[in-house]
Amino acid sequence: MSAVMKVVESKMAEPDARGELLGDEPFREPRHVVPPVTGKGGQPAFFSCWDLHAYYGESYIVQGVTFDVREGEIVALLGRNGAGKTSTLRALARLDSPAATHGEIWLDHQPLHEMKAYQAARAGIGLVPEDRRIIPGLTVEENLQLAQIAPPHGWTIERLYELFPRLGERRRQEGVTLSGGEQQMLAVARALARDIKLLLLDEPYEGLAPVIVREIEKTLVEIKKHGITTIIVEQNAIAALHLADRAIILDMGQIAFDGTAAEVLDNEDLRHEYLAI
Ligand SMILES: Nc1ncnc2c1ncn2[C@@H]1O[C@H](COP(=O)(O)OP(=O)(O)OP(=O)(O)O)[C@@H](O)[C@H]1O
Ligand SMILES: [Mg+2]
Repeated sequence: MSAVMKVVESKMAEPDARGELLGDEPFREPRHVVPPVTGKGGQPAFFSCWDLHAYYGESYIVQGVTFDVREGEIVALLGRNGAGKTSTLRALARLDSPAATHGEIWLDHQPLHEMKAYQAARAGIGLVPEDRRIIPGLTVEENLQLAQIAPPHGWTIERLYELFPRLGERRRQEGVTLSGGEQQMLAVARALARDIKLLLLDEPYEGLAPVIVREIEKTLVEIKKHGITTIIVEQNAIAALHLADRAIILDMGQIAFDGTAAEVLDNEDLRHEYLAI
């Protein structure tokens, strides 16, 4: 039995092969049957999150978050430590923690709020968590093959190696022995190996040298050219703002700003108040 199949067998007992647990309960609120009209110009947005509320147990963390993302955009989701960025990404991906209790999430006319995490993943959400979740015991290539164990498939492995030549060179190396930057590339490549519509990146530059950050930025620009829509959460707000078209700032679980990335770069008061930069 190949190493991949052994891992698949052991992982099949878990709800999601990428190591995330499934959302338990879909929202209990009554459902609308048509997408909310939230995009500018009266059209439903490509992605929209409307009045999202989520809790860890009794802790009320995501407190009525509403925003839209246009197809092909890169949106920087920013805010101080503890503002609720990771929690918001997790709620968007329909993970069970934090538990979303109210709100709607639409991706390309699909009601994610009615889905569990594995269904949201199938509908096109690709979450790359902060800890990257490279699977031990598997080579780079096996990590990618595992992502393609079930359809719908995204980019082919050869195409991913064109995007990330370093991964191609290290295809037979065990994934967890890669450098931090290479592991981040593998985590993004693994998301693209599935047919995703929206890439959610949680702190992709964390712990990486500036030269590697620039390499990953270039790749994200390349991915954008191929039509992938991205939400990037980053402590390195300046780098994220230079990459992004738009910026959303979270503060204490609520939206404090929604506008262009250039507006945030130009507005010193806003940066001081919410980003401490
Ligand atoms: N599993 C959990 N159980 C209880 N509270 C949690 C849990 N995870 C996060 N929180 C709390 O939720 C709040 C928001 O945390 P979150 O991780 O979403 O912030 P963040 O904006 O991603 O911060 P950072 O920039 O430090 O990553 C914090 O007060 C945090 O302590
Ligand atoms: Mg976080």
